[in-house]
Amino acid sequence: MQPYQREQLWFPCSLDILAWDDSFHALMLGDQMRMKAYEAAIKTAVKPGDIVVDLGTGTGILARWACEAGARRVYGIECNAKILDRAGIELARFGYGERFIGINALSYAVALPERADMIISEIIGNLGDNEDCARILGDARRRMLAPGGRMLPQQLATYLVPVSSMRLHRQVTDGVCHSVSRAQNISTLLGALGLNSPFDIYYDAILPRSTYLSPPQPARRFDFDQDSHATDYTLSLRFTASAAGTLTGFKGYFVAELCDGIVLDIEGSDHGDGRYSDSWKHAYLPLRQPLAVNKGDVIEVTLSRRAQNDTDSPFSCRYHWQATVRSTQSVERVPA
Ligand SMILES: C[S@@+](CC[C@H](N)C(=O)[O-])C[C@H]1O[C@@H](n2cnc3c(N)ncnc32)[C@H](O)[C@@H]1O
Repeated sequence: MQPYQREQLWFPCSLDILAWDDSFHALMLGDQMRMKAYEAAIKTAVKPGDIVVDLGTGTGILARWACEAGARRVYGIECNAKILDRAGIELARFGYGERFIGINALSYAVALPERADMIISEIIGNLGDNEDCARILGDARRRMLAPGGRMLPQQLATYLVPVSSMRLHRQVTDGVCHSVSRAQNISTLLGALGLNSPFDIYYDAILPRSTYLSPPQPARRFDFDQDSHATDYTLSLRFTASAAGTLTGFKGYFVAELCDGIVLDIEGSDHGDGRYSDSWKHAYLPLRQPLAVNKGDVIEVTLSRRAQNDTDSPFSCRYHWQATVRSTQSVERVPA
């Protein structure tokens, strides 16, 4: 039986990274889509003898695959001491204890004794940069990567699509939100973020294509081989409704190119063998006031992101979004 249902509201894991415990790591390790793509990419891209940085090593799974691919040394950087202990034990259990160097720190504070041939990481959120990957990887690339070194993932694109889901709207209104671990509570999270309304945050949810009111559009693109990307931005998108419905919010998702030819695309929602991601799900950006939409109407959304520069919560950022619907019916009614 699948524990996750479509259009079911889940705690936004990326908003509380420092509280991730074993239950969330277990979910990530069981996410077949994530695991298959990353294992294939690392075993394609890491070459024998490489010096590798595994940024955000967690339980050490990416580091283990890098060792299996022949890495000479892997620096596993992890800010969560408890989970890093697990990585050390795992790597030793697989016989890679000599090649794995665990470093318990936030990556910004790490100075390595040598530069790496490759930086591997999985610090992507379902909205692309909601775990602050652009800033973290920009800093790591500048300070830790050797000239000509490679980044995995190498590119990331975020997409948005307007959706109609009264089921999700009701769950946000009623405060019905599932969580992976007991430590996750929406009211506590809102309080910690200084927010009052449950409509001021995004959620994790699986949104099938049947909820779309138009085709998705790319919102933001990151090339991790390139120099820095702005962490604060405002973007606007226009969609033409391909169906009538009630706009309740937007679905956000990412497509990542891990290495040449290996793409991780979390848009899908089909349960079954690796065809959707249950650790990421999708991001649901709710609207407090649902809006009626007719086919052909123009839906406009403005999304802004602001980094918080909060030393207690180094990943923290805020997204704001607002939408308008412009009816084109009067134009359509003009006789040809
Ligand atoms: C999504 S988990 C992935 C863990 C593991 N690499 C895997 O694939 O299963 C990301 C991990 O990176 C850590 N992390 C994120 N940003 C970090 C940073 N800038 N410095 C150190 N650790 C970081 C988090 O604590 C978390 O354990």
